[in-house]
Amino acid sequence: MRHFLNLSNAGADAIAAMLDDALTRKQARAGWPKGKVDADAPLSGRVLAMIFEKNSTRTRVSFDMAIRQLGGKSIVMEAGQMQLGRGETVADTARVLSGYVDAIMIRTDDHAKVEEMAHYASVPVINGLTDASHPCQIMADLLTIIESGKSLPGLKVAWLGDGNNVLASIVEAAGLMHFDVVAACPQGFQPEEEAITRASGRARVVADPREAVEGADIVVTDTWISMGQAQADAKLAAMMPYQVDAALMAHAKPDAKFLHCLPAHRGEEVTPDVIDGAQSLIWAEAENRLHAQKAVLRWCFGQIG
Ligand code: CP
Ligand code: NVA
Repeated sequence: MRHFLNLSNAGADAIAAMLDDALTRKQARAGWPKGKVDADAPLSGRVLAMIFEKNSTRTRVSFDMAIRQLGGKSIVMEAGQMQLGRGETVADTARVLSGYVDAIMIRTDDHAKVEEMAHYASVPVINGLTDASHPCQIMADLLTIIESGKSLPGLKVAWLGDGNNVLASIVEAAGLMHFDVVAACPQGFQPEEEAITRASGRARVVADPREAVEGADIVVTDTWISMGQAQADAKLAAMMPYQVDAALMAHAKPDAKFLHCLPAHRGEEVTPDVIDGAQSLIWAEAENRLHAQKAVLRWCFGQIG
């Protein structure tokens, strides 16, 4: 059974194969209406159930369109409207859904819940974001980087701000795909040591934002307040020196690109001139959620890797 709970579930070779597949499929259907099914309809007859315990725009719509373009169908559920929201266990939900659908995607808070879902499900389970990681996002980010003409091995990625779930998956990708991450995070908001060790020596945390960005190929940031976190003035104040503005971007390589998983808060983690400027790849990055997730779905069903 193939579960996609973190990038390491797939491993480097399968990730590379998924990125190749995503790019090929994206190019093959360029200009087609979004709802048209890919010529080979590889997931015809398959149904994906999606469970959301947190808000989502990109993950919800891109997974829904991904399974449709592959010839399958989806069922989208808010956890609050399920019995899960009234105390039915994750384990029981997993076993019941496994009798109805062919795969389950879940967005939740505690990463232990996706692990429990995978343990009890008899169909593939996909992590659509937890407090600990966001592997589907990073598949789209890697695809966007490659599409921009850069190759992953040896790349220098700078992260600015909160040591959060998105950073944890970037760091995991660094270890697998052999690029380097320097994360500049304020005291008290650094990533867990365990997340950094997953990069097998390819990630380090610094305090100085300029040190992180110096000579970077890719500059990445994310919201300072993730879903489920309290809006705290002290945190926003601590983050302010880590805002990505034009002066900070000037320390990166001249051809450096800017990424942000979205949703963004212009004037907080990034200034409008950077996120809406020539170096920003955010719209391609958002679209690539669709193309990357099609590959993740195909990997889950044993069609890739
Ligand atoms: N980047 C991302 O996961 O966006 P959503 O929260 O809108 O799904
Ligand atoms: N770190 C953010 C990512 C949103 C896609 C969050 O968890 O809210």
